[in-house]
Amino acid sequence: MAEKKKDQVSPVLIGLMGSGKSSVGRRLAAHLEIPLIDLDEYIVEKVGKTIPEIFTGLGEEAFRDMESSALREVLGKPAVIATGGGAILREENRALLKEHPPVIWLKASPEFLARRIDGDSNRPLIAEGETLKKLQALAEVRYPLYESCADYIVPRGEMKKRIVLDSILRFLHDNYLASD
Ligand code: S3P
Repeated sequence: MAEKKKDQVSPVLIGLMGSGKSSVGRRLAAHLEIPLIDLDEYIVEKVGKTIPEIFTGLGEEAFRDMESSALREVLGKPAVIATGGGAILREENRALLKEHPPVIWLKASPEFLARRIDGDSNRPLIAEGETLKKLQALAEVRYPLYESCADYIVPRGEMKKRIVLDSILRFLHDNYLASD
């Protein structure tokens, strides 16, 4: 694989909600000196509605359509891309992700995540309680999908964000980045 300079790599972060895609993504982007594109924020800005408003007013399928278009628009740009937790659900999105390495899965258990995001009203899929149960159901369906797209898996639950960041940077340097 051809080695790239820092501003030519486009790492994509995937994983369940609460795994730290946006916050790790922000730090990673700062280190690589490239922008962060947060897919949820990108959609919110484009549509002019919050995620809960989109889910309530237009429904989850409409949100997934927007998510697929947004993903298509941003993949390949010189940026760190933090996806929403469900971006891997559609086959077409998984195919796109596989065409745009490196894809990095921040893997965390439902128990770890539930402690961080219990009852988050900005996350429609868990807003009404039973967070752990819902995350367990999501993990069962999604873990194999995340795994099928991932070029690198970081055990987020066992690592502090600083260590997660170091681990991703090491992976990128060893596999994607020119060592100048
Ligand atoms: C979702 C995750 C959310 C957001 C939407 C749906 C999901 O993003 O896209 O609420 O299906 O897991 P985060 O993973 O950034 O919370």
